Amino acid sequence: MMRRFTPSKSVAALAVTASLVLSGCGFTSDEGRPLTSLSPKGDEAQDIHNLAKPVFLIAGIIFVLVQGAIIFVSVKFRRRNDDTDALEPRQTHGNFTLEIMWTIAPAILLAGIGVLNAQTIWALEADEANPLTLEVIGHQWWWEYRYDTDSDGTADVITATQAVIPIDRQTDLKIRSNDVIHSFWIPALNGKKDAVPGRTNNWQVTPRVEGLFEGTCTEFCGLSHALMQMQVRVVSQDDFEVWLDEQATPAAEPEADTLAAAGKDVFFQQCASCHQVNGYDSSGAKTDGAADPAYQADVHPLLSGNAPNLTHLMSRANFAGGALELTENNLRRWVQNPAEVKPMAADMQRGMPTLPLTNEQLEAVVAYLMTLK
Ligand code: CUA
Repeated sequence: MMRRFTPSKSVAALAVTASLVLSGCGFTSDEGRPLTSLSPKGDEAQDIHNLAKPVFLIAGIIFVLVQGAIIFVSVKFRRRNDDTDALEPRQTHGNFTLEIMWTIAPAILLAGIGVLNAQTIWALEADEANPLTLEVIGHQWWWEYRYDTDSDGTADVITATQAVIPIDRQTDLKIRSNDVIHSFWIPALNGKKDAVPGRTNNWQVTPRVEGLFEGTCTEFCGLSHALMQMQVRVVSQDDFEVWLDEQATPAAEPEADTLAAAGKDVFFQQCASCHQVNGYDSSGAKTDGAADPAYQADVHPLLSGNAPNLTHLMSRANFAGGALELTENNLRRWVQNPAEVKPMAADMQRGMPTLPLTNEQLEAVVAYLMTLK
């Protein structure tokens, strides 16, 4: 005798599976999951999470009901041994009541979800008083951040890879691209926003938790797209002011006759045509110390604009487009053979080139970079 398959058991199994999946929404820890959007750390990410929960619940219930009905019907009305082809099931095609029901029910559900959706879109654009403005620029393959601290229309603090913003204050991101389409995404703080050449896209984050939040470029932008990462460090409002003051300070001059001083010479011969260190022009001559948003763009027309401003390199946790943790060994590894970490484009115009440095020059330039605190 064949074992009897009971529809009620399979529906129960489905319900258990679905509730396990649904309970995934309840995770509050993001440990080991730096790119989760299920653990919001700011108002905008929370708004999106609050929308995802009811939508997922509704979809989950419908999934269970539909799958349950499919299993029930296929078991109950399966072909039996004594069935003959002469017996055709009763046809319900063209049943007016059924047609109306299964048109109206999803329409009502979708309209409800549509209202929630619209509410969330408005909530995401709600403005708070006194926002911080932060220019975000996508380059192949790293992110640049520009702060206009005195609101005179020119950036005076320029940094890369890792943005620093204050807690409990809205930051307005002005997202641009220097070359191709990138997409800015810090899942703990908000959804994705494209960086499109020739456009400025507005986006905002209002963090409520201090910490270092990870993100990654989410629009394919060429060879090293997967290595185009970024972080946002959320700090207290006081720490943010201190950080801004430090970043606005020009780089310190290394002590004479040290390895770092020798490294500074190498840096201005080999690296400074792309990388700015505030306080010097690209030949190493002293300037008034300000960051220059147009650094070298006219003399060195790289397809991808310029390289990261390195004035306070050592204040960052990561570098090389976020691919490496900032340690002395990693700096050495990067300068010696950048392509091994993050390959540059075949036209040698975008990305970090391998420089012809002797071992002494390499050690010296790393020593200099270590002074850029
Ligand atoms: Cu930038 Cu992908």
